[in-house]
Amino acid sequence: MPWIAPSLLSADFLDLGGAVREMEQAGCRILHLDVMDGHFVPNLSFGLPVIEAVRKRTDLVLDVHLMISNPEDMADAFIDAGADYLSVQYETVLHLDRLMDRIREKGAKPGVALNPHTPVGVLEEILPKCHHVMIMSVNPGFSGQRFIATSFDKMRKLREMAARDNLRVKIEIDGGIKPANTQDAVRAGAEIMVAGSAIFGTPSPGETFRQMQTLAEEA
Ligand code: DX5
Ligand code: ZN
Repeated sequence: MPWIAPSLLSADFLDLGGAVREMEQAGCRILHLDVMDGHFVPNLSFGLPVIEAVRKRTDLVLDVHLMISNPEDMADAFIDAGADYLSVQYETVLHLDRLMDRIREKGAKPGVALNPHTPVGVLEEILPKCHHVMIMSVNPGFSGQRFIATSFDKMRKLREMAARDNLRVKIEIDGGIKPANTQDAVRAGAEIMVAGSAIFGTPSPGETFRQMQTLAEEA
């Protein structure tokens, strides 16, 4: 079943607990947490203390997206803080093979996120070690940006690559997902769709979540 993953980046930071509860009550299974360092991306968000606090509040799957330079230095700490899925940006890692192994050894599910300009072909050798691949459908750093239309083709290519090698890898899409393109995303191969502003920018985030989750399931 496809999952909508609400991104807490667009929630009210003074009431993250309320946002988590609202998503749980709406039937959400997975939360997306965007970590930004002001270096790899031109923005800062939150880090370990927030992940730890969310972990204490919920048993939902925590999908942590590291938009930081040198993620290998901090991967262990994010897993200790409670990350279930840990995604690193392809563009930030020199020794990706070693890092994927390390994340798995520590008990989390390793994934790679690709910037819009990074072709899926670079994953050919590492795909067997990826639990998931995240296609960035905006340039990372900010919520509320416009969806980059070529991302669906990229997802199809990735799906073909995985099928050709008989690999079971989850495809995730992040950026600019809203009710209007949710079903196209599922048809292009997305199993996890991150949505920030589309959910938390509405008067009733719980209802919007349910609407998007239903659209995804009916695609
Ligand atoms: C962007 C982040 C996204 C962001 C998505 O750098 O990786 O997860 O929260 O926000 P929306 O859904 O508003 O594009
Ligand atoms: Zn993200």
